[in-house]
Amino acid sequence: PPIDCEPLKALVRTVPDFPKPGILFYDITTLLKDRKGFAEMIDAFAQHYIGSDVDLVLGIEARGFIFGPALAYRLNAGFVPVRKPRKLPAPTAKVTYDLEYGSDSLEIHVDAIEPGQKVILVDDLLATGGTMEATIKLVQQLGGEIAGLAFAVELDFLRGREKFAHYDVFSLLHYDE
Ligand code: PRP
Ligand code: MG
Repeated sequence: PPIDCEPLKALVRTVPDFPKPGILFYDITTLLKDRKGFAEMIDAFAQHYIGSDVDLVLGIEARGFIFGPALAYRLNAGFVPVRKPRKLPAPTAKVTYDLEYGSDSLEIHVDAIEPGQKVILVDDLLATGGTMEATIKLVQQLGGEIAGLAFAVELDFLRGREKFAHYDVFSLLHYDE
């Protein structure tokens, strides 16, 4: 039976007015440090993909690095980091995306994915979906085949999921406000 992650919400700390007034922050560090809680998160991710043929798990700096490697290990897949600008040493592909104020960029090594490889993209949070949308562009540039998008937390009310109608979007914890 599928793992029910709902009880894990008891281990998530809510912080009002962070990072700015009016925002309720779902802090999963209190869940991550719980040995059973963390294991259950990775188990739930793994259960969703086990049996499908996954070559690579890609994690998005910084907080995608919390989950990506653990999931890659469980799926017998390799791990690919997508990094903030100017961190990767070898030739990169780059994508720039809009934020509320200004813009940001992400980079990937051009040889990180071979055309046709099946890749799962992992991040801690699906909010507006801008970060994942940009990452998808990088994977497409390299010819990777996107096997799924995975998030620890999804803020349903922001409707970020609507950007990814063509993909399998899997989130462990859903919040409606
Ligand atoms: C946060 C979070 C996701 C992204 C979600 O990353 O870790 O990556 O925002 O927001 P979106 O769906 O609206 O794009 P952030 O860039 O704040 O930094 P970090 O991961 O490096 O801490
Ligand atoms: Mg992030």
